[in-house]
Order: sequence, then structure tokens, then C-alpha cells
Amino acid sequence: MPAFTATAPGKIILLGEHAVVYGRPAIAAPVNQVRARAVISAAPRRPSGEVLIQAPDIGLESRLADLPGDHPLACAVNGVFAELGISRPLACTIRITSTIPVASGMGSGAAVSVAFIRALSAFLGQVLSDERVSTLAFEVEKIHHGTPSGIDNTVITYNLPVYFVRGKAIQTLRLSKPFTLVIGDTGVASSTAIAVGEVRRRWQASTAQYEAIFDQVGRTVDFARNAIEVGWLDELGLRMDENHNLLRLMGVSSPELEQLVQAARAAGALGAKLSGGGRGGNMIALATEASAPAIAQALSSSGAVRTITTTIQP
Ligand code: MEV
Repeated sequence: MPAFTATAPGKIILLGEHAVVYGRPAIAAPVNQVRARAVISAAPRRPSGEVLIQAPDIGLESRLADLPGDHPLACAVNGVFAELGISRPLACTIRITSTIPVASGMGSGAAVSVAFIRALSAFLGQVLSDERVSTLAFEVEKIHHGTPSGIDNTVITYNLPVYFVRGKAIQTLRLSKPFTLVIGDTGVASSTAIAVGEVRRRWQASTAQYEAIFDQVGRTVDFARNAIEVGWLDELGLRMDENHNLLRLMGVSSPELEQLVQAARAAGALGAKLSGGGRGGNMIALATEASAPAIAQALSSSGAVRTITTTIQP
């Protein structure tokens, strides 16, 4: 029996993180330079039904039966089994690897889930629709993040730039021209669950103030969407700066993020902001093809442990 392989991209949030958890819109895009990969092969010599999971990047090798039920990978396997009505699969080995940095706002957890769910369902003889894959991955996101908006599993499953509103049908973005982003990694690991939890506590303590910030984010996202659709990159850059200031007000920036955002702007970025949960992780800078190398260089000189230049395509 051949091995079944599936991969899934990383992602960046262009605008709207955190506010999206509270029903405001957000824009996200896939990043295909980094990917999660799941390979499943039959293991006919092992006892029937035994599923062995290997994730060398996190030092995990375990039988499914030995993982706690609330482990994200157990949740993904059991979700696929339930979806397909399978109780005892062929013995198999599932190997997961990923080049997406963890705890950095690039959707590594959701990408692993999507690759894993796609490879496993193909191994079991059924190809699930994107909608089902995204829904199953969302269940795993709840373990990772507690109260996820669903944007990560959506953009990663569909592998397209999206305008996303929690609970609403996915809207893909109509870009009139490509644009270039430089992603800078602070190297500071930051849990999205903790960042989302902190914003929730502040929102509970100062609800009116936070609702007003989220409303402003929503308006900024809508202006940015329009700018993307008509190809007005200066305006998109201004909206990214505006969104970064609102994220600072929410308390999710950090000295390392501020340093990289300032460095990108000084090197000619049209706009720059933190991306994802914040408190560490990644920032993004809007560049032109010509300015991207200088911006990447400035980010590295200002402490970025890695930069990725990516073009968001129509
Ligand atoms: C994480 O990529 C984006 C957040 O808005 C959380 C979420 O939407 O689930 C911080």
C-alpha cells in the first residue's frame, strides 16, 4: 500500500487579529514557503488497529491509544474516525514534520491539523471537502487556543487570501495585483492561547473601551480590504500601521515587536505591524519587490531571528 502525503501552508494575519475573536472582520493569507507535512503508511506487521504517531520536531513518538484524549493529534485522528464512521483502522504510522515556526503566529498548529486530517482521510479511502477539513481542524484549534475565531484553520485549509468573519461563510479576497510582505520573527515564543486569554481578561474588565477598539479595528480592516481589492498599496500600508497602534492599545505588542516594526518603517516599508497573537512571534512589513531586500536586512540587523519574503497572489 502506498504512503499518503498531505501538506498545508503557514499563514499570516494581515489585519484584524484579536478583534476577530469578538466578531469583527480580519484578513489573512497563506504563506507557502513554510509547510506542515503528514505522511501515513500502512504497518501490516503491527497489531490491527494500532496507530503510531511520530512527530520528531516535538520529540513525540506514541501509539494513539497512549495519548490523552485531549491531545491535539488524538483529537484530529478521532475526529477523522468519527467523521468517516471508522472504529478500527488498518495499523498505520503517521509521521508529521513542519517547517512552520511554532508559537510565532504563523498557524503551525492549524497547518499540522489540516495536513494530518487530509492525509489520514485519504489513507482511509475518502477525500473530505475543504469545509469538513476546516471544521475538523477547528475542533483541534479549540484545544490549542481555547476560544479560536476559526481564521487559522480557514485560511490554511483553503490556501487563499481570505476576508473572515467568525461564523460567516468564507469570502476569498479579489486582489487586483500581488503585493510583497516581509515577515520578521522576533524569536520570542508566544502562546496564542495566553495572548487571547489576556485580551479577554482586559475586555472583561473594560468592556466598553475594548469594544470601541475592536470596532475601530473592524473599520480599518474594511478600508484595507478595499485598498487590497483596488491595488492601492500606500493606503494598505497606512491601515496596517493603524491596526498596529490598535494592537498596542490592546496590550499585545512587545519591545521586540516594536523594534522590528520601527526598523521596517525606517527601511522603507509602506506599513508594518505585529501579526497573530502578539507578545512575541512575528511581525509583517508591506514592501515593494525593490524595497523587500533592504527591509529584510534591516529586520535581521534589528534582531529578527528569521525573515521570510512572500508575495501574496491574486
Ligand atoms: C491567531 O492567528 C489570531 C488571533 O486573532 C486568534 C484567533 O483568531 O483565533 C489572535
